[in-house]
Amino acid sequence: MAIRLGDDAPDFTAETTDGTINFKEWKAGKWAVLFSHPKDFTPVCTTELGTVAKLKPEFDKRNTVVIGLSVDPIEDHNAWKADIEETQGTALNFPLIADSDRTIAGLYDMIHPNASDTLTVRSVFVIGPDDKVKLTLTYPASTGRNFDELLRVIDSLQLTAGYKVATPANWNDGDEVIIGAAVTDDQAKELFPDGWRAEKPYLRYVPQPGG
Ligand code: BEZ
Repeated sequence: MAIRLGDDAPDFTAETTDGTINFKEWKAGKWAVLFSHPKDFTPVCTTELGTVAKLKPEFDKRNTVVIGLSVDPIEDHNAWKADIEETQGTALNFPLIADSDRTIAGLYDMIHPNASDTLTVRSVFVIGPDDKVKLTLTYPASTGRNFDELLRVIDSLQLTAGYKVATPANWNDGDEVIIGAAVTDDQAKELFPDGWRAEKPYLRYVPQPGG
């Protein structure tokens, strides 16, 4: 069944390049990114895993753990690691799930039969500290993902979890944010005593809070 925003993230125990992991014990109340790739020893996937490995300090800063998945066996994952390090200049520094029996792919609806009957698509799930699904993304095999965008979304999710604000199009950390649509002007006066910039009654900007 498809995973939707706000759903409980299905728990699982899996064989990974870092040993056997129980997902919810492993994430231990942190934010988590679970992402699938179609196949080991393929070009786009190699660049993706190298890119995520390079960004690991950025995920750490955001209290976010990252775990990859494909249906390839653990022996392939372990052999592929050397290629990732050689070509991407970074060793794999997060676990990769070997989902050979497709149990987790099934739980998270990562196989889209009209794309491929057997391989996982490029799915991304961001899961909050409360183990609820906060973001889903699906890319085709031919398009490598923009993991800087994923960090940007995590910044937005973490900010908007703490304040009654939303982030506008193309927002980046430190930019002005929007007062949430459900917040009345009276409530906004309490929440943002320094005031706001209104372009319309429903489009009210404030500096990013918490900075
Ligand atoms: C790739 O990573 O390049 C790839 C993987 C599976 C199908 C097509 C491309």
